[in-house]
Amino acid sequence: MADADTARAKEYRAEVPMRSEPFFLKGSNNLDWGLKNRLANIFDPESGRTVMLAFDHGYFLGPTSGLERIDLSIVPIIAHADTLMLTRGILRSSIPPTYTGGIVLRASGGPSILKELSDEEIAVSIDEAIRLNVAAMAVQVFIGGENETKSIHNLTRLVDLGNRYGIATLGVTAVGKEMVRDAKYMRLATRICAELGATYVKTYYVEDGFETVAAGCPVPIVIAGGKKLPEAEALQLAHDAVQKGAAGVDMGRNIFQSEDPSAMIQAVRKVVHEDFEPRDAYDFFLDLKKGKPAKARRTG
Ligand code: 5RP
Repeated sequence: MADADTARAKEYRAEVPMRSEPFFLKGSNNLDWGLKNRLANIFDPESGRTVMLAFDHGYFLGPTSGLERIDLSIVPIIAHADTLMLTRGILRSSIPPTYTGGIVLRASGGPSILKELSDEEIAVSIDEAIRLNVAAMAVQVFIGGENETKSIHNLTRLVDLGNRYGIATLGVTAVGKEMVRDAKYMRLATRICAELGATYVKTYYVEDGFETVAAGCPVPIVIAGGKKLPEAEALQLAHDAVQKGAAGVDMGRNIFQSEDPSAMIQAVRKVVHEDFEPRDAYDFFLDLKKGKPAKARRTG
C-alpha cells in the first residue's frame, strides 16, 4: 500500500483533544452542518453579524422608489452586502450568479398593497429554494393581525421544509398599522417566531427596551431599517440596535433611497461589523460621498 511506503511517522497526537468549537450564533449550536454552513454565508463568522441588503419590497409594492431599475441601482452595490434579501423573480432576472454572498429568498406573498396585506401564502416550493441555492427563506408573520394563524402556519411549514434540507427560515415580524410598535409587542412577536422554529428573526428597532427584545429571543435578531431617515439617523439606529443585541441589519430603503447608496451601505458595514460610533460612520459616509478617501475613525 502506498501509505505503508512513506517514511513519515504517523502523528495521531493522542495527547491533544480534538477541537470542538461552539457555533458562533446564539441558539444555533444544535443545527445540522449544512444549515450552519448556510448561516455562515449570511452572518460574518468574525463579527457574528450581518448586513443584509433588502430589496424585496416589489413583491407587494411593485416598483418601489430606488428599485425601479435594480440592474442600475442595486447590482453595483451588492458586493458590499453580506446577504441579499429578494424575490426569485429579481434573483433570476437581475442578479449575476457570480454573487457569492448569502441569498435570503422572499418565500411568502400574495396580496398587493391594494389588499389586506396579512393574507399571505407560501409563495415558493422547497425544490425552487434548493435550485436557487438559497441560504434562507423569509416569511412574514402577522402577530395580532387578521391572518395571524395562517401566517404562523406559513412559518412552521417552511421551518419543516427548511430543516429537512438544511435551509434557514427567517421569521419576519410584520407590524400592522393597528399594532403599537413597542418592546412589549416586539418581545411577543419575536419570541413566537423563535419558539415555532425560525432560525432567525427580523424585527424593528424600538428606542425603549430593545435589549429586552434581543435578550428574550433565543435565536439571532436582525432589524429592518424601516422608512427612509436622514443618513446620520439611520446609522444611529443601526448602531443602537447592534449595541443592544441585534446580530445585524436587514436594511432596504435607508440604503437604496440614500443620496449615495454605495457610501451608505459601506458606512452601515462600519457600524455593524466594526462597532463604529454613529458620528464616525457618518463622517465615513460623507467622505465616500464626496469621493475623498475615508478618514480613520475618531477616537474618544
Ligand atoms: C418588506 C421587507 C423588507 O425587506 C424589510 O422591511 C427591510 O426593508 P426596509 O429597511 O426598507 O424596511 O420585509 O416586506
